[in-house]
Amino acid sequence: MTGIRIETLTRTYRAGQVRALDGVSLAIAPGEVFGIIGPNGAGKTTLLGCLLGFLRPDAGSITVDGHAPDDLAIRRVTGYLPERLTLDRWMSGAGFLAYHHALAGLAAASRARDVAAALERVGLDATAGARAIRRYSRGMLQRLGLAQALLGDPRYVFLDEPASGVDPAGVVLFRRLLNEARARGATVVLNSHQLDQVERVCDRVAFVSRGRVEAMETLAAGAAAARVLRVRAAGALPTREALALAAAGAGAELLEVASPLARFAVADDAAAARLVAALVAAGVPVAEAASEEGRLERLFLEGPAAPGGSA
Ligand SMILES: Nc1ncnc2c1ncn2[C@@H]1O[C@H](COP(=O)(O)OP(=O)(O)OP(=O)(O)O)[C@@H](O)[C@H]1O
Ligand SMILES: [Mg+2]
Repeated sequence: MTGIRIETLTRTYRAGQVRALDGVSLAIAPGEVFGIIGPNGAGKTTLLGCLLGFLRPDAGSITVDGHAPDDLAIRRVTGYLPERLTLDRWMSGAGFLAYHHALAGLAAASRARDVAAALERVGLDATAGARAIRRYSRGMLQRLGLAQALLGDPRYVFLDEPASGVDPAGVVLFRRLLNEARARGATVVLNSHQLDQVERVCDRVAFVSRGRVEAMETLAAGAAAARVLRVRAAGALPTREALALAAAGAGAELLEVASPLARFAVADDAAAARLVAALVAAGVPVAEAASEEGRLERLFLEGPAAPGGSA
């Protein structure tokens, strides 16, 4: 297995007037969870379309495990959740999954059981499964779409805005399903605007803008990356030394004090909780503790850091 190789891919629309992708090169390793972020119109959906073999590149090449993306050997092991779901709205959710189960060539004998399990996996109960798709809410449709994309545990999973319109419980569930896909060795490529989710689930993230890969971030695989906790006190803060000592005892690091605010570097949620407990124990009247915006959000808003600039 060689994973996905994209080389100097260019794709235009409207007879070359719109350059949606402009020389994109990427290599995605087998088993990687790869995120693509970037502004509206950046070319993310176009890139997925090319990866799936739905859109033909103007120039450049894509191979998936050494095959063309529309090769049946690849199609057979690929699951896909499109940006705009156009489902057969008269079908029931369960009927839709059964139909795709058959299309995927999965065993008829286990169809009913697999469909029930697929519905349950995305938090849709049997009543919802029996209902016509036209009566589904936005988030229910999205859940059904993910269930379909994951049918048969495909080796490649391509998701375009998987969590759009999904409620917070669903977002957590989707994250768990992606981690399960990773755990069984699937390669996942997803477009998303939910940067906090991307940051938590992806191994690497490409920032695409105007059809080009402008930056690449490697994230701690699936784990919450190190971040900055901003603490506001209800009164005066103790001395800088006292704060630094309390932080060090909790495995955190004091970055900056500007009473009543202080900023700390923490490794993860558990470290943040330890830090707050240590500050309270040291007599700091903690009124508020919140994470600063994540790396991806900064990347998105400020663009890639200049070479040699501070991280
Ligand atoms: N079928 C099409 N015909 C003409 N232009 C298109 C077509 N599809 C996309 N484009 C253009 O190509 C560019 C990239 O679009 P694309 O849908 O890939 O962006 P995206 O990054 O997925 O955006 P979003 O975050 O809004 O989903 C845009 O300028 C868009 O207008
Ligand atoms: Mg898109």
